[in-house]
Amino acid sequence: MNIKIENLENIRESAREFVSQMGDSNVYAFYGKMGAGKTTFIKAVCEELGVSDVITSPTFAIVNEYRSDTSGELIYHFDFYRIKKLEEVYDMGYEDYFYSGALCFIEWPELIEELLPEDAVRVTIAEGHDGSRTISFS
Ligand SMILES: Nc1ncnc2c1ncn2[C@@H]1O[C@H](COP(=O)(O)OP(=O)(O)OP(=O)(O)O)[C@@H](O)[C@H]1O
Ligand SMILES: [Mg+2]
Repeated sequence: MNIKIENLENIRESAREFVSQMGDSNVYAFYGKMGAGKTTFIKAVCEELGVSDVITSPTFAIVNEYRSDTSGELIYHFDFYRIKKLEEVYDMGYEDYFYSGALCFIEWPELIEELLPEDAVRVTIAEGHDGSRTISFS
């Protein structure tokens, strides 16, 4: 499945499409180069899911927690870019998040690949020459 984001003006439409395609899995791993648009797209998806808190990149926190105003559910947003050892991920109690049933959106999952649940959905974001983005997942 591919979803195109032509520009930032129609990102919410793309996020809505993504949400409509989300299946039973609660863990979504977002792959893509630095600056590909992972944080921006996750933010749009969270907004689409009813989160109204300010959504920032969890660069300094590893994980940020949001609550959807519509469903009341918690959503976790991870950024593993700064992880140096898997031990840090064990220490933060990653299992309590990944296996909580709450939605988890992950940036830089390649750094914790072996800890991803079996049913995690792998999503790739790529930037085109025209600045558009293509989201692919299966
Ligand atoms: N769909 C888009 N269309 C146009 N510009 C975008 C889009 N998505 C992101 N950008 C722009 O690209 C830049 C990087 O976006 P973002 O921070 O989301 O990338 P990232 O993949 O999270 O990067 P990092 O790996 O550093 O976390 C920002 O300036 C953002 O405004
Ligand atoms: Mg980011």
